[in-house]
Amino acid sequence: MKNIVVLVSGSGTNLQRIINCVDTGEIPDANISKVIADRECFGLERAKKHGIPTQVIPRGKTFSEELKEILPENTDLIILAGFLSILNKEFCESFPGKIINIHPALLPKFGGKGMWGHHVHEAVLAAAEKESGATVHYVTSSIDEGEIILQKSFEISEGESLESLQKKNYETEFEIFPKAINKVLNFPL
Ligand code: GAR
Repeated sequence: MKNIVVLVSGSGTNLQRIINCVDTGEIPDANISKVIADRECFGLERAKKHGIPTQVIPRGKTFSEELKEILPENTDLIILAGFLSILNKEFCESFPGKIINIHPALLPKFGGKGMWGHHVHEAVLAAAEKESGATVHYVTSSIDEGEIILQKSFEISEGESLESLQKKNYETEFEIFPKAINKVLNFPL
């Protein structure tokens, strides 16, 4: 049984997808041992509803150190699912190949500091891109630059709205996230 810890900052729809996939066996032989947030958010409610232990470490300079202290010892994988704090170099280097993140664009495009959630989709629309997509990648100390595990694109239609782009993105994320998680759990770096 692999032990997963999920980090969240927001609504936690990707967390819900992971919870459901663990329940149905789409992500087999896995257990979500803890959900950790850097602020109060709806993701925590989703975890509590499923009986998953939760903890909040308020965002700030010492977040990574505090996270390291409370991380269950048997953790096989740390998943960033809509998590907005930056993990420091020391933390990232302590868990090589064991931290993954989902990003709502086709990295290396539209990544880096400040590129999260709706900001990403707004930038994609402003650049009149013909396509966007979602990426799951390893987390390193360089923001959004770790090795790509899975990526999938979709077309952007004429007059695409922010809402419809977000919807396409979630559908794509829901498809690739469990696949990427299984890939990492079965074939670790
Ligand atoms: C997701 O689209 C995820 O890709 C994005 O935040 C959203 C979280 O939604 N992450 C980033 O932008 C990280 N740079 P959720 O909380 O409903 O899963």
